[in-house]
Amino acid sequence: MKITIGSDHGAVALKEEVKKVLAEFGVEVTDVGTFGTDSVDYPDIAEKVCADVVSNTADRGIVLCGTGIGISIAANKIKGIRCALCNDVFSAKMSREHNNANVLAMGGRVLGFGSASEIVRAWIQTDFSHGERHTRRIEKISALESRP
Ligand code: RB5
Repeated sequence: MKITIGSDHGAVALKEEVKKVLAEFGVEVTDVGTFGTDSVDYPDIAEKVCADVVSNTADRGIVLCGTGIGISIAANKIKGIRCALCNDVFSAKMSREHNNANVLAMGGRVLGFGSASEIVRAWIQTDFSHGERHTRRIEKISALESRP
């Protein structure tokens, strides 16, 4: 699996922890930054990560900021992205099973490394259920993207 990951300055340390977890699963990781503590704008990071997902350069994306809120909002503006902000394992599993989330968001100022690692493990290991009702609902989300 290929995953592109990015964070703003609010989650650089968490990004490194998440990369260690991804390595457990043999995930091929592309890190689009940021790499330091200088302030950057989270929409720019969301745009870079999601570009890889919509172009199929990456199978999925992970976006991080201080709360996970701003970067998940930005990611969900991009056509084809279903970004789930998850602060617990149950939500992470459901975001894959029911919503086929292709981008995971978390907050570096919200989650400890242990909780975030468990969320990532669950998100990586859970597949979309392909249930008829879930597929129908995702198709309706896609239809919303095409409305004027
Ligand atoms: C940056 O200070 C902070 O606003 C950002 O990381 C994030 O929490 C926004 O939602």
